[in-house]
Amino acid sequence: MFQIKKICCIGAGYVGGPTCSVIANMCPEITVTVVDVNESRIKAWNSDTLPIYEPGLKEVVESCRGRNLFFSTDIDSAIRDADLVFISVSPSVNPSPMGWGRVVRLILSSSRRVPDGLWRYRMVTRLSQRRAPSRFELLRNETLISVVLQVLSNPEFLAEGTAVRDLKEPDRVLIGGDETAEGQRAIRALCAVYEHWVPKARIITTNTWSSELSKLAANAFLAQRISSINSISALCEATGADVEEVAKAIGMDQRIGSKFLKASVGFGGSCFQKDVLNLVYLCEALNLPEVASYWQQVIDMNEYQRRRFACRIIDCLFNTVTGKKLALLGFSFKKDTGDTRESSSIYISKYLMDEGAKLFIYDPKVLKEQIIHDLSQPNISEDNPERVSELVTVTSDPYEACQSAHALVICTEWDMFKELDYEKIYKKMLKPAFIFDGRRVLDHLHPHLQNIGFQIETIGKKVIATRIPYTPAAACPRIAASEPPTKKAKV
Ligand SMILES: NC(=O)c1ccc[n+]([C@@H]2O[C@H](COP(=O)([O-])OP(=O)(O)OC[C@H]3O[C@@H](n4cnc5c(N)ncnc54)[C@H](O)[C@@H]3O)[C@@H](O)[C@H]2O)c1
Repeated sequence: MFQIKKICCIGAGYVGGPTCSVIANMCPEITVTVVDVNESRIKAWNSDTLPIYEPGLKEVVESCRGRNLFFSTDIDSAIRDADLVFISVSPSVNPSPMGWGRVVRLILSSSRRVPDGLWRYRMVTRLSQRRAPSRFELLRNETLISVVLQVLSNPEFLAEGTAVRDLKEPDRVLIGGDETAEGQRAIRALCAVYEHWVPKARIITTNTWSSELSKLAANAFLAQRISSINSISALCEATGADVEEVAKAIGMDQRIGSKFLKASVGFGGSCFQKDVLNLVYLCEALNLPEVASYWQQVIDMNEYQRRRFACRIIDCLFNTVTGKKLALLGFSFKKDTGDTRESSSIYISKYLMDEGAKLFIYDPKVLKEQIIHDLSQPNISEDNPERVSELVTVTSDPYEACQSAHALVICTEWDMFKELDYEKIYKKMLKPAFIFDGRRVLDHLHPHLQNIGFQIETIGKKVIATRIPYTPAAACPRIAASEPPTKKAKV
């Protein structure tokens, strides 16, 4: 059987970095080189401060870096030497074929420089996915050397925040490839890499289409569960039910299960939206409009939930946040990662900035530059990118963020937010002091927080307490939850 001794991974990001570090850690006889066009990222992988935060990752990297794990910008050499090339680059959320074309050209240009005699059996596989058919067509058409290259599909299922655990103990490893003898041989060689630590029963092999669609469908099902429970959260707020109680009751049904039933400000991250949109695109392209619109609803519900939360903040703050200071805690798309891609915090910030709110943002792992960069994007700051410098302050201390704030808005479920000194925070804030808990992290503290004097609003539950009277929303101009707030900041 063909044995893989050298692996090259193109893309040293949230997937390529941790995946290859774990492979190197588990397979000491395989040399793994992770390459990237981004020099500063590679420099960081070679330093004490890794470019991404993942619990347990530093230990894994340090156990094999310089031994059989290398990070480099010399892409050509790494491809030339490798038996297997993983492609783990991230297409933009709105996919364009350019990213893949570049990678393919890189592989080809490196390949052409190799004298014929040196060609070994070589595979290309991928940990990422996009529009499957066009991508594989592209790879095949451009390379025209399928005798030499075998293209496998090896979607990665890790979740950020638990990447190392997911990689070391995966629910399954999925490898798809051609049903030809060559394709099967390539699949077996890659299986052998994973068999160093993954039980054989958990390694599934399929044809390429099944593998590609499984990844899209898995992410679509996960996103759908979040949108489903979020839709119920709106109903809970309207009826007096508590979405946590509903989630527990339905999750105890073994046919449904309890995971991914947490109501929140909506899902984020680089994958869910992209993959659901890919599914929608694929269905439309294959003339399945009913299926496409079914999945589109998952995205629409997510956007609705973000807008609904922003509208609630505005409603509760007496129908205006213009010029008001709001402390926004949490900017990453989930806890235990510094990744902000498609984070709901970005969109909630946008809606509040559109209304002229002054945001004081704190996140324990996201850098100030990243927050400013995210909020300055054209789709967020539209006609006035200058407003970010006028309306947004990033702080390195959650208490500082709350100083003289009208409200504290929790957007990410960082554990540390459960342990803040809320008496101290209350004293710093303007009164009435509001807490908007977009992640249900403070449920256990509600009586305590109410005793302190906070007005609490949370997702999927009416928190019963004496409310400060205010003008009913019906009598005031009110933004519609079904549309983005339109009133522009007066800056
Ligand atoms: N993030 C996740 O949780 C996750 C989970 C499973 C799968 N995926 C998929 O894995 C893929 C990678 O995602 P990610 O989160 O690691 O992205 P990322 O943006 O963190 O990393 C991609 C890296 O690729 C580099 N790159 C881009 N084009 C390149 C090129 N032509 N040559 C060399 N380097 C190049 C970029 O500089 C970047 O560092 C995506 O398709 C994503 O959908 C992501």
